[in-house]
Amino acid sequence: MNFRNLFQSALDYVSERIPVEKMNFEAMVAKKEVPLHRLSWAYYMGGLALFFLLVQVVTGLMLLFYYQPTVSDAHASVEYITEHVAGGALIRNMHAWASSAMIFCVIAHLLTAFAMKAFDKPREITWITGVLLLLITFGFGFTGYLLPWHQIAVNATKIGMQSIEQIGQYLPGQMALWPKMVKEIVQGEASVGQATLSRFYAIHVILLPLSVAGVLGLHLLAIQLHGMSRGIDEAPRRHEKFFPFFVIKDLTVWSVAFLCLFVIALCLPFESLYSYPLFEPFNPKGSTPDGIKPEWYFYFVYYPLEILPFWVILLGSNLVLAILFLAPWLFKGTSRKTLRLLAIAAALYMIVMTVFGEHIYHLFKGTH
Ligand code: HEM
Repeated sequence: MNFRNLFQSALDYVSERIPVEKMNFEAMVAKKEVPLHRLSWAYYMGGLALFFLLVQVVTGLMLLFYYQPTVSDAHASVEYITEHVAGGALIRNMHAWASSAMIFCVIAHLLTAFAMKAFDKPREITWITGVLLLLITFGFGFTGYLLPWHQIAVNATKIGMQSIEQIGQYLPGQMALWPKMVKEIVQGEASVGQATLSRFYAIHVILLPLSVAGVLGLHLLAIQLHGMSRGIDEAPRRHEKFFPFFVIKDLTVWSVAFLCLFVIALCLPFESLYSYPLFEPFNPKGSTPDGIKPEWYFYFVYYPLEILPFWVILLGSNLVLAILFLAPWLFKGTSRKTLRLLAIAAALYMIVMTVFGEHIYHLFKGTH
C-alpha cells in the first residue's frame, strides 16, 4: 500500500468515527433517540459523572481562593477554610464527597457501557476517550489527596511513590530506569516535600483539568454524532426522544444528586470517617501513624498489593488496562450476554475488595 492509500484509509477510518457531515442540530439533538430497555438507567451514569465533574470545577475554584500550596501553610489554609471562611466547610465537604461520587459513577458507567457493548464500531473513539477519562479521574483523586498535607496524605503518597519506583525491578535493560525517572519527575526531590506538593498542585489544578476538557469534549462530540448504542437487546423495541424527554430526566437526576450531595456535605464531614490523628499536620520528624491507606477507590488494587507479590499486581493491572484499551477489537465477536457476565464479575470483584479488602488482608496475615 503506498503512502497516498494509507493516508486515505486513515482519513476514511476517522471520518467514519467522527462524521463531520452530521455536525448539525438536526442530527445531534433533534433526531437523537435513546433506547428503552431493562438497563436504560445506565444511560444516566455518564451524565451523573459529568454533573459531579462540574461540581468539582466550581467547588475547586472556590477552594483555590484560600488554599496555599506550600508545606508550611497548606494544612493551616485548609483548616482556615473549614473553620473561618463562611460556607468553607460545606464547599470542602462537597468537593470531597463529589470526588468519591464521581469516581463511583465513572466506574459504574464504564461497566454498564461494557455490558451494553457500547464500544462496538463506530464507537471506538468514544470508548478509548472513556478509558482516558477513567485514568484522568484516578489522577485527580491521587493528586488531590496530597494537597491538605496531613499525615495520611503525605504518608500514603510516599507509599504510592515507592510503588512506582518498584516497577523498575521487573523491567528489562534500560527500561528498568524509567519508573525511577517518572518518580523523580513527579516527586521533584529526594522525599515527598515542597517540590512534590507544587507538582501535584499544578497537575491537579491545571494539567488534569485541561486534559479533561479536551478528552471529554471529544467523548461528548462522538456520543452526540453517533447517538446512543442499542443497549442490552439485539434490537430495542422502544425509544424515547433525547430532546426534550431524556434531557428533562437527566436534569431531574442531577437535581436529586445535588440535593443528596448538599445534605450529606452539610451533615457529614468527609474526614469524620477517619480517626483524627491521621488529619494532624504532617510531621516529617514524627513516626508514621497507624492506619495509613489510600482512598477507598484504590482498595481494589491496594489490598491485593498487600497480600500478593508485587509482580502479580503489576502484570494484572497492565493486562486489565490493555484489555480496556483494546476492548472494541478484542470483544468484537463477543455476545452482549457474555459481556454482561464479565461486567458483573468485575463489579463483584470491585465491591468485595472495596468493602471486605481489609478483612481479607487480616485473614491472610493472621492479624485482626
Ligand atoms: C469523566 C468521566 C466521564 C464522563 C463525564 C462521561 C460522560 C458521558 C456521557 C454524558 C455519556 C452519554 C450518556 C451515557 O451513556 O451515560 C457517555 C457515553 C459513553 N461513555 Fe462516557 N463518560 C466518562 C467516562 C467514560 C469511561 C471511563 C468509559 C469507558 C471506558 C466511557 C464510555 C462511554 C461510552 C462507550 C458511551 C456511549 C454509550 C452508548 O452509546 O450507549 N465513558 N459518557
